Amino acid sequence: MTAAATKIPALPALLDQDLSFIQGQLRSELTELAGRRILITGGAGFLGYYLVQALDHWNRSAPSADRIAITVFDNLKRGEPRWLTDLAAGKRLTLARHDMREPLPADMAAFEYIIHAAGIASPTFYRRFPIETMDANINGLRALLEYARARQESADPVRGFLFFSSSEIYGDPPAEWIPTPEHYRGNVSCTGPRACYDESKRYGETLCVEFARVYGLPITAARPFNNFGPGLKISDRRVIPDFAADILAGRDIVLLSDGKPSRTFCYVADAVAGYHKVLVRGRPGEAYNIGIETPEITMAELAARMVEIGRELVGYSGKVVLGASAEAAYLEDNPARRCPSIQKAREHIGYAPAITLDEGLRRSFAWYTHHRQGSDA
Ligand SMILES: NC(=O)c1ccc[n+]([C@@H]2O[C@H](COP(=O)([O-])OP(=O)(O)OC[C@H]3O[C@@H](n4cnc5c(N)ncnc54)[C@H](O)[C@@H]3O)[C@@H](O)[C@H]2O)c1
Repeated sequence: MTAAATKIPALPALLDQDLSFIQGQLRSELTELAGRRILITGGAGFLGYYLVQALDHWNRSAPSADRIAITVFDNLKRGEPRWLTDLAAGKRLTLARHDMREPLPADMAAFEYIIHAAGIASPTFYRRFPIETMDANINGLRALLEYARARQESADPVRGFLFFSSSEIYGDPPAEWIPTPEHYRGNVSCTGPRACYDESKRYGETLCVEFARVYGLPITAARPFNNFGPGLKISDRRVIPDFAADILAGRDIVLLSDGKPSRTFCYVADAVAGYHKVLVRGRPGEAYNIGIETPEITMAELAARMVEIGRELVGYSGKVVLGASAEAAYLEDNPARRCPSIQKAREHIGYAPAITLDEGLRRSFAWYTHHRQGSDA
């Protein structure tokens, strides 16, 4: 099965479609960011792929005075993505290998916008590296908050600060809290196998709220609900890339649960437009759900849709089978349902996701056909 022999679009067209869409969603926000310096930690990761490239896309047609100066900090532990090193080599951004568990570099530039997205996000990996997960979320965040505080009286203070929290801070909400609004307080274990992630995101949000309240800093948090799409490595052990890997290998799709847990999946171009909106327009000390409200589908339904798309795009002939993860804690504390209310983000910041699940799955699948190895995203 080769991309050329199928209905798979070429990669530049796919990326240009998504980046142009994001730019269209962010007209006024990009005007606010014009000519400013922005730091994106974790910019080599999945969300970084479009967070960074959306700004670079704007820069390509902006007059030089309006270009956004982009800096990425990442420990690059999972490799140096080609798209990012190419941008750095072309002097379109500054890339620094920095581990956010360490103190910030002494020669930090004067950033006016900061996005803290560095952290371990995949359940398989945060269970394997729990201390590193907590340290990136908490120590890294604290250092950036202190940096923002120290610059407060300067001529160019921090104007926007976005912490990447998670929908996992809600834990496993009961049915009456689905869809889940921001004021739901959560049902979370502080000692279970997911606690290193969930609780460090919860404490991270508390740090943000108090730095905003006590020091009057413009700090916001986003709670992503299951984003997917280009940039999410096929090796990341998340459900959509796992299914795509099965299809591309021509083997049956293996469900690692009974197929009943349900989620809503938000395509990354919609979500990244939302994150930049939270950064620029979010109210200080507030958190915003970023995801999509419909459709809420079970893992079994998701697998069935992926089979259909695989059939349509590459002639896949496999089926869905039940299996079990080799990881003992794989399903422990796994939420039964996850579905956001995005009313607050719609009202406060004009967030309006528009890409359907099927369309997002098609584009993701197309991207995976070009990135089967996952290391070169
Ligand atoms: N993708 C989602 O659906 C989702 C859902 C909820 C929350 N989030 C949060 O959004 C943020 C970004 O998620 P993602 O999906 O892009 O994850 P990702 O794992 O693809 O990317 C994270 C990046 O952070 C870097 N990183 C990890 N630890 C670091 C450290 N100590 N110092 C410097 N860099 C480090 C990694 O090298 C990677 O490039 C994370 O904070 C994650 O918890 C994502």
